[in-house]
Amino acid sequence: MARTLGIEPLAGTTFGAVVKGVKVTALDDATWRELHAAWLQYALLIFPDQHLKRAEQIAFARRFGPLEFEMAAISNVKADGSLRIEADNDDVMKILKGNMGWHCDSTYMPVQAKGAVFSAEVVPSIGGRTGFADMRAAWDALDDALKARIETLSAYHSLHHSQSKLGHQTNKRDGEYSGYGLHDGPVPLRQLVKVHPETGRKSLLIGRHAHNIPGMDKADSERLLQELVDFACQPPRIYHHDWAAGDAVVWDNRCLLHQATPWDMTQPRVMWHSRIAGDPRSEAALGGSAVSAAASG
Ligand code: OGA
Ligand code: MN
Repeated sequence: MARTLGIEPLAGTTFGAVVKGVKVTALDDATWRELHAAWLQYALLIFPDQHLKRAEQIAFARRFGPLEFEMAAISNVKADGSLRIEADNDDVMKILKGNMGWHCDSTYMPVQAKGAVFSAEVVPSIGGRTGFADMRAAWDALDDALKARIETLSAYHSLHHSQSKLGHQTNKRDGEYSGYGLHDGPVPLRQLVKVHPETGRKSLLIGRHAHNIPGMDKADSERLLQELVDFACQPPRIYHHDWAAGDAVVWDNRCLLHQATPWDMTQPRVMWHSRIAGDPRSEAALGGSAVSAAASG
């Protein structure tokens, strides 16, 4: 295949690449195939200087598959243009703060996400980076005894759990939250070790939504899950992207964790998230019904 993309792997990490010299809005089929293969290999692709319009971002995201949602603002700017006050701690602020813990998207839904196209429109002068962590490399780095122990384990995933750990009371029927996974449906159970449906590689499926490993004492389960995150989310398996306005990325939510990082919330940060839906054949929870109306958002 002719190499048309300028792919520069990130230095000092196990994953990720910057892709230069391409407009993601104008990919011919050969370039798309090359880009998709690179996405599976690197799990995170970063495209500088894209400045995607809404319809362009949605169209690019759709090339990876059906969307869980088209375009959500991840932002501390309100619809009227004013800034959210950090101390008000409203529902959106709670989600922005919650995003700062390492996590995997929509694992608390019946079908976890495949990935996301995420772009920066307005960035603060310092902070507000997004971190990514390679759970394939984390799995590979575990010793054999621990691998054998956790290979048979699973955990429940819930947004009620992760938000309440931050002291955020969540109301199951709350309107602003409901599309985000605070539903009354069954709490998904997922194996700690996920096999990637397209690459066959194993990875750790952990992060802030995971809790309560069946067969384990609650405190022991909490400790093990925290130890795994602490071990996994360390160099060389992490990368924090310092955004420039106009950057777009696409990440593979089937093998990476991610996190927002703090910024001075008296400055605006406006990011756009197009969430790619998981394939129910490989991203459904254990024993879960593959299709649920509650999963749209
Ligand atoms: C998300 C998320 C991180 C960020 O949108 O799912 O976790 O840096 N965002 O805003
Ligand atoms: Mn997220």
